[in-house]
Amino acid sequence: MRKIKIFDTTLRDGEQSPGASMNVEEKIQVAKQLKKLGVDIIEAGFPIASPGDFEAVNRISKEVKGIVVAGLCRARDEDIERAAEALIPAEQKRIHTFIATSDIHLKHKLRMDRQQVIEAAVKAVKKARQYTDDVEFSAEDATRSDWDYLCKVIEEVIKVGATTVNIPDTVGYTIPQEYGELIEYILNKVPNIDKATISVHCHNDLGLAVANSLTAILKGAGQVECTINGIGERAGNAALEEIVMALKVRGDFFKADTNIVTQEIYRTSRLISKITGMVVQPNKAIVGANAFAHEAGIHQDGVLKERTTYEIMRPEDIGIPSSKIVLGKHSGRHAFKKRLEELGFSLSEDELNRAFDRFKKLADQKKYIFNEDLEALVSDEVLRIAEFYNLIDLEVSSGTKKKPTATVRLKINGEEKQITVSGDGPVDSVYKAITELTGSKAELNKFEIKAITGGTDALGEVTVILEEGGHTVRGHGSDTDIIVASAKAYINALNKLAIKNKKS
Ligand code: KIV
Ligand code: ZN
Repeated sequence: MRKIKIFDTTLRDGEQSPGASMNVEEKIQVAKQLKKLGVDIIEAGFPIASPGDFEAVNRISKEVKGIVVAGLCRARDEDIERAAEALIPAEQKRIHTFIATSDIHLKHKLRMDRQQVIEAAVKAVKKARQYTDDVEFSAEDATRSDWDYLCKVIEEVIKVGATTVNIPDTVGYTIPQEYGELIEYILNKVPNIDKATISVHCHNDLGLAVANSLTAILKGAGQVECTINGIGERAGNAALEEIVMALKVRGDFFKADTNIVTQEIYRTSRLISKITGMVVQPNKAIVGANAFAHEAGIHQDGVLKERTTYEIMRPEDIGIPSSKIVLGKHSGRHAFKKRLEELGFSLSEDELNRAFDRFKKLADQKKYIFNEDLEALVSDEVLRIAEFYNLIDLEVSSGTKKKPTATVRLKINGEEKQITVSGDGPVDSVYKAITELTGSKAELNKFEIKAITGGTDALGEVTVILEEGGHTVRGHGSDTDIIVASAKAYINALNKLAIKNKKS
């Protein structure tokens, strides 16, 4: 079995998904879970892109040990210096530098000729090697590049010390057979290719990212770049869970495996979905709600008689919790902590205390607390501290004969402010009040409300999409009171916008 390295870019390319931005605390939580999942390399961010990205790479380097932490940079001195600085505390660091190699990019974006790009790539790799022996070079838009030119670039960067060479399908253009042939071509044409690992990085514009990645592995790629739930630019990146499980289930065919602890897949998927607010489609392979649900009578009958008739993997292989036992107000701290761990949350003592406090309050309002409630509670209440806007209090009056009115008190950057506003309905009044208090100019593009579990005491979960100045963010909030959940979702999105605005 060949060991394929898993390079997770959820925190970098994944975070580039419209609306998927995460704050630093959330990124640290994700990085810790990726470590548990067993990925080989975490691409923690693009340090020069913003102070927030720098801080995320720096804090992950400090707080997540025993794993390679990578920082992305263009082939420019200032980018590489910034990435190197962010990575100083890392036990094992990788500098990942890139420049485009396709004529389309050279002509229209870089305005450089082929020789200039080779020189910039070589200079960048040499510079990166001053800070670490682990240097990855990516030939952006490789799949639309001239193959011989691409081989030349790869040869030159390996000569000066690139230890991984990445062949990105940046625009999701290639198809499996062609991509496989490209990998073979590189293996045959680049004389020093044995000195580096070939990496693949596929986007999903034609729905082929996973198929392309797997074909490249078959042809000799040794590293695959992917994201949890396949999130990423536009249609996303190759989904980590699909690649890993294809290799595991069809090890007989691929003769390759990974270091991934597959039992952590489901938890990681849920965590990413909760933090980014990006819902996993029910029929999504491996982690979708229906991935292991047998509806047809014939299938159910077959599975009951012999599981393997219709199941090629078991839910427990990817860590779908077998225990559906619900928690309630008599559940103790130990059971609570254990369940959170099963769900993939590793909280500090302080976070756990706060979460347990919230849990007890919720258990007073709601008899049964399900896994979904716990996920919502933790991602809502615990991971979102130190924010710019905080909801302090909310009071709403409405009725068949009353004009709906909301009084909202917010803490904005440490200062408390309150306002009373009327609107068309209770949510409208609350949103008007928040808009006035924050002075937000953001446009509300989507408002969605759903009950997380059954019953009238269920937690209501609200998702909103806001847009401002070219940035789109998703906010979510949950509470047994749907008006409070709506306020939380709006404020969550405004906090994300505040981060985005700081970045740009
Ligand atoms: O898609 C791409 O080309 C990238 C590179 C920066 C690796 O994300
Ligand atoms: Zn990419």
